Amino acid sequence: MQADYAHLAKTIAALTEGEDDTVALMATVACELHHADDRFDWTGFYRVTGPEMLKIGPYQGGHGCLQIPFSRGVCGAAARTRETQLVDDVDAFPGHIACASSTRSEIVLPVVDAAGDLIAVLDIDSNQPAAFSQDDAIHLAAILHSVFASRRAI
Ligand code: SME
Repeated sequence: MQADYAHLAKTIAALTEGEDDTVALMATVACELHHADDRFDWTGFYRVTGPEMLKIGPYQGGHGCLQIPFSRGVCGAAARTRETQLVDDVDAFPGHIACASSTRSEIVLPVVDAAGDLIAVLDIDSNQPAAFSQDDAIHLAAILHSVFASRRAI
């Protein structure tokens, strides 16, 4: 099963309508994404909780590392550069943080709010090599924009 992004965007929009609590929004997005695609083995958010520091937020899947400084990992790279990180082979990514030894590929997207501030990153891991494409990056970025950048989440 692969994600039907048009359907997923509609479902998430309906489920989050009128909601402005960031944790509630993140929990809903993580749940809907995770159960929409067999490639997604870990799906979750790391929140910006201080200068150059990420801490785990709502997620689906096995254990997730609790803290990630901007200087480390794929998540740190996405936060530092504010650019989507599409990693076909995590073993080839310098400084990759292995929260699960089964992870083979990963995509991490920056999450920006209505004020343009970086509030988190969305991290999706797969046990399949090269599981993610530019098409995934475009559709996931659109969903994040519609949920987080189009409202003043608190
Ligand atoms: N692999 C990530 C860390 C988070 S786990 O995948 C849940 C990284 O390198 O930043």
